[in-house]
Amino acid sequence: MARIAIVGVGAIGGALAALLQTTGKHELTFCTRRPLPELTVQTPEGELRIQTRNWTSTAQAEPVDWVIVATKTYDAEGSAAWFPGLCVNGAPVAIVQNGVEHRERFASWVRPQRLLPVIIDCPVERKSHDQVQLRGSVLLKVEDAPFGRSFLDLFAGSAAQCVPTEDFLSAAWWKLCVNVVGALNALTLQPVKVLWQEPMTSVARSLVAECAAVGRAEGANLSDAIVDEVINLYRCHPADSVNSLLADRLAGRRMEYDARNGAVVRKGQKHGIPAPLNQMAVALLENAASNPL
Ligand SMILES: NC(=O)c1ccc[n+]([C@@H]2O[C@H](COP(=O)([O-])OP(=O)(O)OC[C@H]3O[C@@H](n4cnc5c(N)ncnc54)[C@H](OP(=O)(O)O)[C@@H]3O)[C@@H](O)[C@H]2O)c1
Repeated sequence: MARIAIVGVGAIGGALAALLQTTGKHELTFCTRRPLPELTVQTPEGELRIQTRNWTSTAQAEPVDWVIVATKTYDAEGSAAWFPGLCVNGAPVAIVQNGVEHRERFASWVRPQRLLPVIIDCPVERKSHDQVQLRGSVLLKVEDAPFGRSFLDLFAGSAAQCVPTEDFLSAAWWKLCVNVVGALNALTLQPVKVLWQEPMTSVARSLVAECAAVGRAEGANLSDAIVDEVINLYRCHPADSVNSLLADRLAGRRMEYDARNGAVVRKGQKHGIPAPLNQMAVALLENAASNPL
């Protein structure tokens, strides 16, 4: 049994809560900004209703054994406000967010060795404040190290596919190569299908190639085939599927482009590798964000 606090119970936090709940082993606490007396998660296996302890103020936070952060990347500061209460006894913090900068993002608040970056593949949507729909299986990847393995142990007995990953850096950059392309959907306001036609496919390829070049400079092992792999992956998605950047733009929410295309530009600058298309994506999305639809 572990006492687990989930900071940010949206789509991903809700999916993780459902998985942890099905193990029947843990004491969950929801750390939210608004009261969440009950969370309903629709899963492929049926509906799960979760009623658990809920703190809505950081002043309520008490020590736990694990903290799982499932907020958006731009909410790092607010998420970290929970740590003094939750981590007073040194609880490790798992960051379940997109991008490759998990440790840097939280470096001001958690020592890097207490922080665990987590990659999640999870087809999940938040239907409302207290309803989440999980449409398929959940894949969790962490560093293949004692800390990573003890995080995955929390999910033993659930339906999560848990993958201790020897080369986590490469896995994180691989996912970023996929995610940088999403900028084109947010900019064109069109679902996946727009990537299937030229000249958009070529632009998508170049976004991936820039990201892969920067990733390699960071030490990721990414073959030249990654460009084709990512483009083929998008060709396998349903034509009308909407990625989170596009969904956020359409809904007038903040977009996570800084942790995606912005990260490629930042890391590229560090190595003297230009990433002009990712830079343009950031500039255009920044402009779009300040001129809502
Ligand atoms: N959704 C997916 O399919 C998916 C797949 C893979 C990876 N990811 C990544 O997973 C991360 C989480 O995404 P998501 O889709 O789950 O986002 P989301 O549905 O927007 O959920 C984020 C949650 O964090 C809460 N939050 C923000 N600041 C907080 C604070 N200071 N204290 C407590 N709660 C706070 C928000 O609360 P409010 O309701 O008050 O705003 C919201 O409930 C992102 O980095 C995303 O890129 C998502």
